[in-house]
Amino acid sequence: MRMILFGPPGAGKGTQAARLLERFKVAHLSTGDMLRAAVKAQSALGTAAEGYMKRGELVPDQLVCDLVVERLAQDDCRLGFMLDGFPRTVPQAHALGATLDKAGIALDLVLVLEVPDDLIVERITGRRTDPVTGAIYHLRFNPPPAEVADRIVQRADDTEEACRTRLAKYHGETTPVLPYFEAKGIVRKVDGVGPPDEVTARVLAAIG
Ligand code: AP5
Repeated sequence: MRMILFGPPGAGKGTQAARLLERFKVAHLSTGDMLRAAVKAQSALGTAAEGYMKRGELVPDQLVCDLVVERLAQDDCRLGFMLDGFPRTVPQAHALGATLDKAGIALDLVLVLEVPDDLIVERITGRRTDPVTGAIYHLRFNPPPAEVADRIVQRADDTEEACRTRLAKYHGETTPVLPYFEAKGIVRKVDGVGPPDEVTARVLAAIG
């Protein structure tokens, strides 16, 4: 399976990816996770990306495209991959298309998780993650268990201000990517509102 998980910030892409990866043994390519690892390592990429991410802006296309193209060339992507958070701009979609065409690979599916803006802010500001396991929690919707409660952290870009910038970027720069994939007939939209188990059932039905 070669798919893209698409949707606004906080739509549940990371939450659903973790569940799908228990069923589908494919590589998970989350550009957000890759960029956060680069920031933590203080690499040249991380230093260049950090300010954009903190403000909720998009990291420049060239930096992200180079990262993904290099990652897609690795062995574990041969059996399939799940792109999460990429592409996010029309130039990124074209760069991905060119890379896959060159390798003779076709995408199977672009799965769009749809969640209205008014729910997004609550999901983002309440999100906490476990730095040890990478598990994603929510203070209200999915509280962390007591044994990890003292080590959970909040992402630097999960403030209300950065969230609103991310939403504006999503509507202004990311949704215009969809017609590129709709023209290929591979877009499926799923309602991302409701308990995570219900969303997973809808996602699996859409994958088919
Ligand atoms: P990235 O890490 O990709 O962030 P994002 O797309 O904004 O998505 P999130 O990780 O915030 O949300 P999610 O959809 O994974 O939701 P989650 O499952 O955690 O990118 C971060 C930054 O990196 C960008 O702003 C940009 O600067 C940069 N970047 C990354 N890719 C880039 C690219 N391609 N180009 C340029 N820049 C790039 O869920 C959210 C919360 O809701 C959690 O607390 C969860 O527990 C809860 N939740 C999930 N599902 C449900 C549900 N069904 N009901 C109730 N609560 C739920």
